[in-house]
Amino acid sequence: VNNWSRIETLEPSLKGHQVLIRGRVQTIRPVGKKMAFLVIRENGYTVQCLVQVQPDIVSIQMVKFAASLSRESIIDVEGEISVPDSAIKAATQQHVEVQVRKLYCVSRAVPNLPINIEDAARSEVEIEKALQEGEQFVRVNQDTRLNFRVLDLRTPANQGIFRIQSQVGNAFRQFLLSEGFVEIHTPKLIAGSSEGGAAVFRLDYKGQPACLAQSPQLHKQMSLCGDLGRVFEIGPVFRAEDSYTHRHLCEFTGLDIEMEIKKHYFEVMDIVDRLFVTLFDSLNQNCQKELEAVRKQYPFEPLKYLRQTLRLTYEEGVQMLKEVGIEIEPFGDLNTEAERKLGQLVAEKYGTEFYILYRYPLAIRPFYTMPCYDNPEEYSNSFDVFIRGEEIISGAQRVHKPDLLEKRAEAWGIDVKTISTYIDSFRYGAPLHGGFGVGLERVVMLFCGLNNIRKTSLFPRDPLRLAP
Ligand code: 4AD
Repeated sequence: VNNWSRIETLEPSLKGHQVLIRGRVQTIRPVGKKMAFLVIRENGYTVQCLVQVQPDIVSIQMVKFAASLSRESIIDVEGEISVPDSAIKAATQQHVEVQVRKLYCVSRAVPNLPINIEDAARSEVEIEKALQEGEQFVRVNQDTRLNFRVLDLRTPANQGIFRIQSQVGNAFRQFLLSEGFVEIHTPKLIAGSSEGGAAVFRLDYKGQPACLAQSPQLHKQMSLCGDLGRVFEIGPVFRAEDSYTHRHLCEFTGLDIEMEIKKHYFEVMDIVDRLFVTLFDSLNQNCQKELEAVRKQYPFEPLKYLRQTLRLTYEEGVQMLKEVGIEIEPFGDLNTEAERKLGQLVAEKYGTEFYILYRYPLAIRPFYTMPCYDNPEEYSNSFDVFIRGEEIISGAQRVHKPDLLEKRAEAWGIDVKTISTYIDSFRYGAPLHGGFGVGLERVVMLFCGLNNIRKTSLFPRDPLRLAP
């Protein structure tokens, strides 16, 4: 046998074929001295292998060797596909078994692992059942999972999550390239804060004060002053957040766009609309197995979204909340609870869990946001986008007039000297433009109805965690 097979592809039609597979030992069950069952796992898919004494093929030493393997060791197995009776079928995903002829250990894992992968893969329902039946197992808490992330990542749900995450980035890039956007890479070491506020990591840049970029905001806008027309970036974003919440990280992956507009920031919202409908469709079409693997451990309903994304004004949203007794301060922001509630009300009324809220009060938007043309004191040309009542995007038309920009930055308490090159960029003739930023981890978390952003960040960084 020369060709490697993936465990995912083993199926009953291959009965009688010789296969060569590589995977991790998930469980080992010796039966007397002449037989051992191994469950082998590859990328979350498992198959049962039977090592049984057979003259001239499998020796008693080989069975002993199989039984002595440690869990999570990587092994190569050569053998014949058989289709076992129903009793064995239930224990495996593939409904096939491998009758082992040869076995090699490629890499041995230490015997006492800090996480048992099968335990880490249990759903809440399975945990409840196991508790009721008095089964011996350890509930794996979030900190343990994150401390030993390389083990935790091996569960089928996590295998699904990071493949879905990859597809989100891929669909984002494909769509934008097809719309004439240029992929850019802006500096992450910058002189001043890009979003304002205190959530900035400060550092020393060869004797000069500097920051880790809180977003590509300033440089993506400047690239439009350099006539790149329509740009996007997928890159790290740093926020020195103090909040320890289910949805804030200190480092996340930003999906950002910025584009010239002819007249109206609705042109940017049109891109949000088409981009996300395409993206959600592509996840549903291309990630069925991955979504199923996530759903098995963390059950969720598929996201409800319309072919044309619902748009409501901020005032309409506030009014809907008012009707159910929730008062928002005039020109104040929606807190997490109000956003959730509005998400529920919108879903009930319009049958969608994905929608755009636009025309936000100016006072609660960043300094670079364009004031509303018809009410520049109170409102702005800006929007947020929500999935299941939580924010995933914020976007806006930007101020392209340098004097206004400078005035607004000052009013925001930003030291304009640190962003003078940014403001000057608009002095040489600047296009009307707008854009938005999306948090990749939030999109995956909310599409999959997960309860914590740490589940969708490969190696999360939060106020308490800088390792692994
Ligand atoms: O709302 P934010 O801060 O907006 C910006 O960065 C603007 N420059 C975007 C623009 O082009 N107007 O961040 C954008 C998105 C949020 O909607 C959210 O999805 C995500 O980034 N995000 C975070 N994700 C994880 N952890 C955090 N601490 C986040 N802060 C924002």
